[in-house]
Amino acid sequence: MTEMNALSRFFVNLSARRRSHRRFAWILRHVRIPVSAQCLELGCGNAVFAAEFVAQFRPAAYQATDVDPDQLSAARRVLARRFPSGAPPELHLARASMLELPYPDATLDVVLAFVTLHHAGEDHHDFSAVRKALVEVNRVLRPGGLLVYEEFLHRDAIRAWLSEQGFQVEQSERRFRLERIAARKPIPSVGH
Ligand SMILES: C[S@@+](CC[C@H](N)C(=O)[O-])C[C@H]1O[C@@H](n2cnc3c(N)ncnc32)[C@H](O)[C@@H]1O
Repeated sequence: MTEMNALSRFFVNLSARRRSHRRFAWILRHVRIPVSAQCLELGCGNAVFAAEFVAQFRPAAYQATDVDPDQLSAARRVLARRFPSGAPPELHLARASMLELPYPDATLDVVLAFVTLHHAGEDHHDFSAVRKALVEVNRVLRPGGLLVYEEFLHRDAIRAWLSEQGFQVEQSERRFRLERIAARKPIPSVGH
């Protein structure tokens, strides 16, 4: 787990709104979010994306999680400004590490992680912690569920790992070093 220092947190949150608009526009155009979805966001930061997603898609539940209590405080401030009469009840903020998700197996329809997976370990260039986070994502996603993520590190290793587990990449976009992916978890075939 790697909480960011105050300066990194400041710059990440400063640009969060612009990045959120771009990724949100991409999701609207390319990704089919199921009706009444159970959603989980890993490393939600200041939750500007979570607020936009919930206002648009009205999922059954959206768990916006981050390991850093300071990020969750920033998220509470953003949500208070965005929803002055109270955030939608389906939007929940929670402290959780992507390495140990407090959710049961195969219960989520959509997991989202934006420039967050590489934060799984102390060394952002070490894939082993990212793999642990992916194992957790795979555990909590239901068969047929969707992983939507953005990364600029470990792009090939993440895709290779997902492919080994049978995920199908349904949508992808590359902007310079940043890759956006929507990948679907396989539904086990019923034996004869
Ligand atoms: C680069 S920021 C991205 C924040 C947000 N997704 C965005 O795009 O603005 C990475 C986030 O991951 C969080 N994080 C770091 N390690 C984590 C972990 N083990 N589990 C969950 N979140 C983590 C950090 O606190 C930070 O908010």
